[in-house]
Amino acid sequence: MSKSYNVAILGATGAVGTELLELLANRNFPLANLKLLASERSVGRTLSFKGENLPIEAVSDRAFDGIDIVLASAGGSTSKTWAGKAVEKGAVVIDNSSAFRMKEEVPLVVPEVNPQAAAHHQGIIANPNCTTILLSVALWPLHQVRPIKRLVVATYQSASGAGAKAMAEVQTQSSAILSGQPAVAEVLPYPLAFNLFPHNSPLNEQGYCEEEMKMVNETRKIFGTQQIRITATCVRVPVLRAHSEAVNIEFEVPFSPEEAREIISRSPGVKLIEDWQANHFPMPIEATGRDEVLVGRIRQDISHPCGLELWLCGDQIRKGAALNAVQIAELLVEKNLLKPLAISH
Ligand code: A2P
Repeated sequence: MSKSYNVAILGATGAVGTELLELLANRNFPLANLKLLASERSVGRTLSFKGENLPIEAVSDRAFDGIDIVLASAGGSTSKTWAGKAVEKGAVVIDNSSAFRMKEEVPLVVPEVNPQAAAHHQGIIANPNCTTILLSVALWPLHQVRPIKRLVVATYQSASGAGAKAMAEVQTQSSAILSGQPAVAEVLPYPLAFNLFPHNSPLNEQGYCEEEMKMVNETRKIFGTQQIRITATCVRVPVLRAHSEAVNIEFEVPFSPEEAREIISRSPGVKLIEDWQANHFPMPIEATGRDEVLVGRIRQDISHPCGLELWLCGDQIRKGAALNAVQIAELLVEKNLLKPLAISH
């Protein structure tokens, strides 16, 4: 009989948590039991899974008893409080927050890029930042053929990155504006409906926000090189759940758009969407609900002989968060990597 596993979702009521539920049901993950964890606020609620109403429990030490895998998406401070406790109980934690991503002993994994890194986990595996996951999946196949020297990225990030409440707020703001009322911002720092603003994460002394530095540092860690120079400008846009990115890539040597297109069209996790006649390229609306990162508008950078320009869109909640985490869980199961290496029981 094939083995099945006890899984807990920490943050089950959130935007990523509910997507995790759907993915676990639809990808036929070998599940024995599923436990749904959130804050005290959600106790008494249920969520539907494969036709059954599962109760939400408040997270606690005991909640991790007998759990093999924790899929955590409840924010950095919640992960910092609970991940260690879950690992002590013998679980492997796949954490969607930024709490552990840059720790040397914590693998930062995108299964299409660096699945081998997962084998070195000590109980926690980090799921990268959403914009970084989408970028990595699209660029890794090109970097394999000719190394990338420098990246200049501009992001167009959906409300979902700020959680379910931010998504609801954009919808409420849109209705308010359309009926002549002012847009109220309570979750997001400014009105997002019919607007956009530079990402509001904390700024460093160089003027870069945390989200931009995540892209710089996490991409290098996933690609296993500190040599790629990266700069980014991250912007929140009034889109519900798919991010877009305009990417300028400088390679060590010239890379023809035709060859890049051919590579993208046969690589895992990406899909080439280009209709030059119709001027039709990836759009967030088309990326929504899809597993693949959509890539298009691949063209020679007219300002640099070794440069390419491309445009990508990907579902932030899906490949940018929940799907990548479930793929990591599948990898752990497939490669028999569930026993935390540094923990003895
Ligand atoms: P709750 O609904 O009980 O507040 P999102 O990223 O969409 O905002 O979702 C955040 C998720 O993290 C929700 O499931 C939320 O649960 C959960 N969460 C937030 N704070 C805590 C906490 N202190 N302990 C456990 N879960 C938390």
